[in-house]
Amino acid sequence: MEVKKAVITAAGLGTRFLPATKALSKEMLPLVDRPLIQYALEECADSGIEQVIIVTRPNQRGIKGHFDTSVELERILQEKGKTDELAKVRKASGLAEISYVFQEQQLGLGHAILMAKDAVAGEPFAVILPDDIIDGDVPAIKQMKAVYDRYEASVVAVEHISKDKVSSYGVVNPERIDGKVSKVRGLVEKPNPDEAPSDLCIVGRYIFTPEIFAMIEKTPRGAIGEIQITDAMHLLLERQSMYAYAFDGTRYDTGTPLGMLKASVELGLKHPEFGVDFRSYLTQLEL
Ligand code: G1P
Repeated sequence: MEVKKAVITAAGLGTRFLPATKALSKEMLPLVDRPLIQYALEECADSGIEQVIIVTRPNQRGIKGHFDTSVELERILQEKGKTDELAKVRKASGLAEISYVFQEQQLGLGHAILMAKDAVAGEPFAVILPDDIIDGDVPAIKQMKAVYDRYEASVVAVEHISKDKVSSYGVVNPERIDGKVSKVRGLVEKPNPDEAPSDLCIVGRYIFTPEIFAMIEKTPRGAIGEIQITDAMHLLLERQSMYAYAFDGTRYDTGTPLGMLKASVELGLKHPEFGVDFRSYLTQLEL
C-alpha cells in the first residue's frame, strides 16, 4: 500500500529554544523566509504525501492560521497587485490536505504519534519531526518511501553521529544490507556513548506500518515518564522487520539556537532571491 499520509508532531514546548518559544510554537519560528513547519509540509508535498495530520497543543493557533486560506489577506494582496506575495501565501495553504489532532498532555513522542491513530486509519504513514530540517536533492521522505516500497516494512532515518553526541538520540543496532540500508536488530534510546550499539542515530523521519499504534498502546511510560516511540519500535521489532536508512542530504537540528543559525546561513546562501547578496555580505565580515 502506498504511503500517502504523514503525521507531523508539533506539540512540544520547545524548551531548548526558550524564551523565543514562550508564546510562539517552535514550529512557527522562521528559517530564512518561512516557518519551520512549512518545510515539513513542502517535503510531504514533494514526496507524494496527500494527507497530513498535524499534532498540536490546544490553543496553539499559529500553525493552523498559517495553513488556512486567508481570504482577507489574499484580497488585500490582490488589490495591491502584489502577485509574488499572493503566490507565496497561496502556496502555504495548498500543500496538502491538513487535519489537526491535539496532544493535551506532554507524554512524549510515542504518545503524540498515537493521537493520530484514528486519522491514519490503518494505513502505513510517515512521521516528520519538523525541527529536523533535511536539505537535499530528493526529499528524505521520498527516499524513505522507496525503501518502504522495497521491503514493505517500517523504515527509520539514521545518520552517523560522533560518539560524544549519541546520547541525545535513539541508536540502532544495524545489520548492514547495502551502503545505505540496514536491517534493524535492536534500538537503544539515548545510550551512554560506551553502550551505544553503533553510531547510526535516529533522526526525525520515520515510516511506520499501522501496527505501531498497538505497540504504542502497550508501551509503558519510560525514561522521564514519557511514552517513547523507540520503546514502541522495540515491540514492533519483535513482530515485524524494520529497516534503517542513511538518507542523502544534510540535516539541521533547528530545535536549538545554534542549529537554527547554521541552517539559516547555509540555506540563506542557497536562496534563489538573495543568496548571492548574502554570500557577499558574509565574505565582507572579518571573521
Ligand atoms: C526523539 C527520539 C529519538 C530520536 C530523536 C531525533 O528524541 O526519541 O530516538 O533520535 O527524536 O530527533 P527527542 O529529540 O525528542 O528527545
